[in-house]
Order: sequence, then structure tokens, then C-alpha cells
Amino acid sequence: MGNAYGHFDDDAREYVVTRPDTPLPWLNVLGQDELFGLCTNTGGGYTFWRDARLRRLTRYRYNDAPYDSVGRYLFVRDGATVWNPGWKPTKTPLDRYECRHGLGYTRITGAKDGVEVELLFFVPPGEDAELWRTTVRNVGAVTKELTLFSYVEFCLYEALNDMTNFQRTYSIGEVEVDGGAIFHTTEYRERRDHLTMFGCTGEIAGFDTSRDAFVGVHNGLHEATVPFAGAAANSVAHGWNPIGSHQLDLRLEPGAEERFAFVLAYLHDPEPREQGRALLARYRDRDAVESAFAALGERWESLLSAFQVDCPDPHATRMANTWNPLQCMATFNLSRSASLYESGIGRGMGFRDSNQDLLGFVHLIPERARGRLLDLAATQLADGTCFHQYQPLTKQGNAEIGGDFYDDHLWLVLSSCAYVKETGDDSVLDEPVGYADTPGSGETLLHHLETSIAYTLSHRGPHGLPLIGHADWNDCLNLNCFSTEPDESFQTAGDVEGSVAESVMIAGLFLRACDELAALYRHLGRDEDAKRVDASSAEMLAVVEEHGWDGEWYVRAFDAAGEPVGSHTCDEGRIFIESQAWCVLGGAGRENGRARRALESVREHLGSEHGIVLHQPAYTRYRPELGEITSYPPGYKENAGVFSHNNTWITLAWCLEGEGERALETYLAICPSAREEAIETYRSEPYVYAQMIAGPDAATPGEAKNSWLTGTAAWAFVSLAQGILGIEPGYDGLRVNPCIPRGWGGYRVSRRFRGVLYEIEVANPDGVSRGVRSLHVDGREVAGDVIPLAAGGPVQVQVVLGAN
Ligand code: GLC
Ligand code: GLC
Repeated sequence: MGNAYGHFDDDAREYVVTRPDTPLPWLNVLGQDELFGLCTNTGGGYTFWRDARLRRLTRYRYNDAPYDSVGRYLFVRDGATVWNPGWKPTKTPLDRYECRHGLGYTRITGAKDGVEVELLFFVPPGEDAELWRTTVRNVGAVTKELTLFSYVEFCLYEALNDMTNFQRTYSIGEVEVDGGAIFHTTEYRERRDHLTMFGCTGEIAGFDTSRDAFVGVHNGLHEATVPFAGAAANSVAHGWNPIGSHQLDLRLEPGAEERFAFVLAYLHDPEPREQGRALLARYRDRDAVESAFAALGERWESLLSAFQVDCPDPHATRMANTWNPLQCMATFNLSRSASLYESGIGRGMGFRDSNQDLLGFVHLIPERARGRLLDLAATQLADGTCFHQYQPLTKQGNAEIGGDFYDDHLWLVLSSCAYVKETGDDSVLDEPVGYADTPGSGETLLHHLETSIAYTLSHRGPHGLPLIGHADWNDCLNLNCFSTEPDESFQTAGDVEGSVAESVMIAGLFLRACDELAALYRHLGRDEDAKRVDASSAEMLAVVEEHGWDGEWYVRAFDAAGEPVGSHTCDEGRIFIESQAWCVLGGAGRENGRARRALESVREHLGSEHGIVLHQPAYTRYRPELGEITSYPPGYKENAGVFSHNNTWITLAWCLEGEGERALETYLAICPSAREEAIETYRSEPYVYAQMIAGPDAATPGEAKNSWLTGTAAWAFVSLAQGILGIEPGYDGLRVNPCIPRGWGGYRVSRRFRGVLYEIEVANPDGVSRGVRSLHVDGREVAGDVIPLAAGGPVQVQVVLGAN
């Protein structure tokens, strides 16, 4: 198993990269609370505190050649040879290289000429610092005299300014050097109450803080002046480009080892320099570093114990137990802001994105999910529309990448209900969040949910379907944009006022949101409200069935001229995935067989060996009335690419139809672990989902792009955990409602729910796909399929599937 570049180590919960020249840089995300680091398999990437735009601590040059050429580097000078344990930037051939990406840490080991250097990068839980535990071993037979140089390049905090406003930034950079502590103090005590420290706990033989001195004005990092010269310049930066570098001289007898740590810290105590020195003093103690690392491991083990599975499919087991939660943590923390493909300045916390991300995260740390829910709700406007994104640091919504996406508000209903079902915390509904344009007004979260439903009800077009606004979930289906100007954004151009363009997908999402809200009201004992919501839903359902059905599938939308999009009458874009998924998930077509017909149509017309494409046929020319979707080359992104995110909805939809084989087939088609062997085509990390896999119409079918920050993470988890494995949190307990391939004999899940661990064993003696025949809880038979809420635990649950 594995591929030419690496393999999974399931017991260690690590992906082991064995060759540094991966098809693309393979990333890991360090940090879990407030300080985050992007770290590639060669140590590339950068570190920021909370907000990759406003508090970027170290620099990165996006879209550089080579990709990923700035990062956390250590240069080793051994005689005349200079090398890096992570291969880059010198790319000096190594005798051995290994990178292990794990849960919140990356360990890179390089060896050359009898010297082995191991760098372990991680952010201790609760700490605003990234540690680089560094171990240098003489594994050869002769004494080694080595000179080491560390390297980071400081970012002047506001990343957009830092990468554009050089007339200013080249004159403001400031540093202070205090032994092993290098402080980056630009603007400190002017407009900033924080600074950055890059410190070393080892004994320092020199330092550098000027990039020009360390690298050389005309050099690349691979030929940096100081490491090749073998001596630090002890430079102090005044403006230009401040960096942090320490020189360490080591003499190691054969078999000897030195261990020390670098500490990259965001310091914001009243006395930040004291804080920094104290941190260094603390981590000078090797045991303190070890216990910080152990704490990280314990933190993750405890998080992961919320859901663990042992099922017949090895990819599903591996993803659910380790990689899917890791990615859910990243999307929850970073939304769509910072990865190798999101620059950290363009897109902050997306409203629809973060509400969906929460679905995959809420069982891990419910308290943080609660806070996020309230932050999101606070960026909804009183009329029901939402700021499409907000900056994580300020929590202020903005319309920089557009507004009036008429699906946004409905996702808040799904996330809020998921939170209450997970936690039983009804009190969140009474939180007085207010609206972004009427902040002190004190309207509750529940009020927001009502506002959301009401907005869709009152913003409908000629067929009675919801208006689409600038776009719905598909940012690129811009039915009101009509852009002919290359310099404008598809998401902001055009006027939605007075337009009649409608979305069938929003109608389906609305049906689902109504189901959720009605169930919430029943849980709250408010049956009249539940009935009112049910009535709205029934009315919308009738509209969907009357105007939304095309004969073999659901129409996608009606454009501003009232023409159908995603209909057999169209020459291109005849069938779309999103409306099939959401109509089925919203309960349309259940009574009349259309749901199944729609899903079969998806399989027949949109299925491919790389996953389900977004629509067919791909658009081959630009159509102003449809917008950005027609601007992409066929097979890429929203123009008939495999958009992983919406594949997961189809998995869930097949579960509703009770087709376990179809559900698993859909799940596996986009599963990165299942792509591991096709890596030369796939190229992206085989352990996390990518937003898009090029479809059959593309020139490079099967090639994945934009890994890490995608709603796929959360929904893939939901589709597996709640759909296929069927462990669904509910108001009154955990419901067990699996939909598995008939060939599965059974599986086990351990699930922490409201503080109690449930050990669930599912047996499938008759080879069915769904249907619970019996349920025993701690040996007692329980009627139905809901495990009643328990206290204490662990609770032993036996489920037998089969006909009653
Ligand atoms: C991107 C956006 C997401 C959108 C999707 C489809 O992933 O972050 O909000 O739904 O593209 O256009
Ligand atoms: C582009 C992308 C889409 C993304 C949007 C966000 O249109 O194709 O995936 O959601 O930008 O602004």
C-alpha cells in the first residue's frame, strides 16, 4: 500500500512522507486554539495568531517558484556541505528523509553523512507559541563539528500591506536581540501591544535579523550567504526585511545527541519581552518540551474518543478515526482563510462555510461550536440576509467578496439545530445575539432562525421558488450578474433587485431547514410553531414538485429571463447535482419515487471514476446569463468538475433511500485515502479532502486541487457517521439508523454523546442495508431505534439489523 511518496501509519495516526519531492507540497496544520501554523512536508509555510491576514507572524510568498519556498528552516553546515533536514531550500540530496504529519504536529527527519537532525513542530495546547524541538545526533563513526542556522522571515503582521505596500514596509521593520531571543518589534507600543519572538533554548554563537545580510540581495534561500559562509553576520535589521536566525556550533562525538528547541511565540502580555524570556527559560528544560508534546497527544486522543469506528472498509475507518476529524478541526478554525490555496487575506470566515463546518466539529468541542454559532449569527442582518464573511480577529462582517447570497441564512438553521441536538443546550436559543445592523437589539438566536425561514418565504419568484440573489451554494451560478467586464467580480457585479431568478436548490435546503426547525419546536414543546413551519414546508414542497421536476431529475434554477437551468431543454448544463441532493435531503420525491429517479439520474449522467461531477454537459462558452460557472474550462471547478463537497450530500441522499452500496460507492469515490495509489494523477495530499477533482471533461481528469479548506470535511464526516454508520444525535438520544452495504457483517462505533460514552456494536446477520430489528442497551431491550439518554457509562449497545 501507499505510493512512491509515502504511506499511512494507522497505529501512529500519521502520514509518512518518504520522499520530499511530492507532486505538490503536502501540508499539515499545526495549532488548535489561537496560534496556527501551516507546515508542509519540507517545513514550508507560515505562522499566525487567530487571523492570517491581521496577525501574520511569519512570511510566505504565495504562488512562488518553486511552490513553497519560505518556511521554518534549519541549515546544517558540515564541512563544506550545507543541507536541510527537510530538503528545502538547499535541496542537497539526503541519505534519509522522512516527514510524519500527525495530529497537530509534523516531525521531519533528515540524515546526511552520519548526522541526523529531527525537527518536531507543534503548538502546545493553550499556548500562543510554536515549538520546534530539535534533535541532532551523530549516527556516524567520526566526531562532527557542525554549525546550524535557523531561519524564519518575519511578516509585518498585516499580510496584505506586507505583500503590497513596500514603500512603507521597507522602512518600518524593527528588531531587538537579547541572547537567544530575537524579538520582532515593528510598531510595538506605537499601534501594537504585541510582538513576536523567535527564540532558541540552545547556546547561541551568533544571530541574524537582516534578510539582506543572511541571504544576500541577489541570492535565493538555497544559496543563502551566511550558511555557506559558515558564520553569522550578527546583523540588526533596520527596515527592509527582518528575519530571525540563530547560529549554533555543535561538537558531537559518535553516538552523541544534542537537543534544544526553537520557540516562535506571539507575545501580548503587558511585558511581552519578560513573557518571551520566561517561555524560553521554561522550554530550556527538556522535560517541559516533552510534557507539552504529551499534552498535545492527550488532547487529541480525548477529542478523537468522541467518535471512533471499526468497520469493514479500511478507508472509512482510517478517515473517520483520524484524518477527517483533523481536517474538520482545520476548517472549523480557519474556515476558508489560510491554506496553500487560500492566501489568508482574501476569504475570512465564510457564513455558509462555517455553518457547515460546524456540523463536522460540534461533537468534538461543543463549547467552541457554541461560540462560533453566536459569532456567525451576529453577522446576520435584521432583514435575514447575511454578511458573507467576517474577519476572525475582529468578528466584523464584510461584503468584500459579495453579499445577497440567498442560501446563507438557511445554513444557520442546520448548524443551530445540530448544536442543540448534540448538546441538549436549549439555552443557546435564548442568547441575545442581535443583528449586525441592529447590534444591541437583543434578538435571540431562535429569532434569527425564524428570520431566516421568513426571508426565504418572502423572497420568491414567479414560480413561487426562492430567489437566488447573487448566487446560492454554488458561488459561480450567477444568474443576476451579466458581467462583460473582465475586471469585476462575478459575486459582486450585477443587481439582484427586482430579479426573478430562482433556485431549486435553495428550495430543497429550505425544506430541510423547515424539518429541522419544526423538530426543534416539537422538542421545545411548541407544537403550534412546529405546525406553522410544517405548513410552510408543505407549501414549498408542492411548488418544488410542480415546477421543479424536469421529468427525470430536479431542475437547478430558473434564470433572470425565467428560463430553466439544468433541464433536458438546455443544450449544456442539462442536469446539476445540487438540486438533486437538496430536494432529496429536503424530503421531495419521497412519496412519488422522484427521489430515487433523481439519484439514478445523477449516477447515470454525472457519475465518473473520479467522483460525481457538478453538471453535464460542461459549458463550452461563456454565457453572461449564467455567470462564472461558464467561465471555467470544462471539467474544472464549478464547470463540471468533481466538487467534492456536494458528493457528500449525494451519499446522504442515498442513505435516505436505503441504498448502502450506492452510499459507500459515493463516499469512496472522493475519499483521499482511496486515491493514494493514483497519486501521480491526484497529486494532492492523500489524507485530506480537496475542494475539487478535475472531471472527465478536463484535460487532467482526476487531478485534485485546493486541498484542506473545504466543506467536504464536515459533510464527509456527517455522511459517514450519521448516514452510512447511522449514529445520529437527536434531542432525546442517539438514533441508530445505519445504511450499509449488504455485504457488511457488522461494525463497532464508540461515540461520546453529552458526556457519556456509548459502545455500539452493530450486527447484520441477514445482510440487509438498513432496518433495526433489535436494540439492547446495557442488556435491556429497547423499542424503536433511539438509545435513550444515559448517565455515567460507558453504555453498551447491541444493535441487530434485519427485518422485524
Ligand atoms: C467554495 C466556497 C463555498 C461555495 C463553493 C461552491 O468552496 O467556499 O462557499 O459553496 O465554493 O461554489
Ligand atoms: C470562485 C470559486 C468558488 C469560490 C468563490 C469565492 O468563484 O470558483 O469556488 O467559492 O470564488 O469567492
